[in-house]
Amino acid sequence: LVELEIRDRAALATLFDTYAIDCVIHFAGLKAVGESVAIPLSYYDNNLRSTMVLCDVMKEHDVKRLIFSSSATVYSSANTMPLTEEAALGCTNPYGWTKFMCEQMIQDIARAEKDWSVVLLRYFNPVGAHESGQIGEDPTGIPNNLVPYITQTAIGKRKELSVYGNDYDTEDGTGVRDYIHVQDLAQGHVAAIQYCQEHEGVEVFNLGSGRGTSVLDMVKTFERVNGVPVPYVIAPRRAGDIAVCYADPDKAKRLLHWQSEKTVDNMCADAWRWQRKNPRGYESK
Ligand code: UFG
Repeated sequence: LVELEIRDRAALATLFDTYAIDCVIHFAGLKAVGESVAIPLSYYDNNLRSTMVLCDVMKEHDVKRLIFSSSATVYSSANTMPLTEEAALGCTNPYGWTKFMCEQMIQDIARAEKDWSVVLLRYFNPVGAHESGQIGEDPTGIPNNLVPYITQTAIGKRKELSVYGNDYDTEDGTGVRDYIHVQDLAQGHVAAIQYCQEHEGVEVFNLGSGRGTSVLDMVKTFERVNGVPVPYVIAPRRAGDIAVCYADPDKAKRLLHWQSEKTVDNMCADAWRWQRKNPRGYESK
């Protein structure tokens, strides 16, 4: 493990000089939607400049296989569900635009030089933890996302979960998302590496389950699977949220030979195992 700032071109070039790298998975970036609205320049600087420097150093070292962490947030909210990779694009916040722009930049590079082999992975809602309970999600400050908020409420760190809106046009009125277990997500990257080794050009894939789960479904599943209460209140809608978002995962199934396997029950059990073993997150160690 080498820790470095990837916008530091010299440091990154030294890393590529030191190791024989033949494929890069680019995960680095800021990822909080609300924060990106408050400090957009930080998001553009971090997410765009890191990608530019990385691609430039890769090119210089003749490394042309790249897997990029993109997001379902690049899809326009005007689409109908499920979202295929052909759905219209368009973002509503700076975080989304940085993913959109990175995708564009990487595609332009691969169009200019035909020997690049690139996979853009559009993640839906990654949740859960490694089943060992050793690797999990420990957000800084108050969690923005649903599942870490649920686990922190269940452990007693937060008083109650706010359910953001119960008047959406969904079965129970709460927002519906496509949650994907982080271990399935990791397997998706393994499949993408194999794909990169066998193909040139750029390909885009959704990494989702194809199933929609509402906020209240998630809360009830968590309580049932783990036998712990999750106190909640109904709160107003959160700005920028949409009612429903889920993937059509068929392309990844056909071309990457990948599909998600873990259930929402697994996600809830694994997230809770990690939180229980690490009540104060990584600070517990
Ligand atoms: N929600 C609550 N209470 C909370 C947190 C979330 O009710 O305390 C609800 C939201 O309103 C939404 C659902 O739970 O209906 C999921 O919300 P998350 O914040 O967990 O996830 P989002 O779907 O808003 O966003 C996620 C990622 C983004 C990414 C986006 C892509 O966090 O980085 O998916 O669609 F851009």
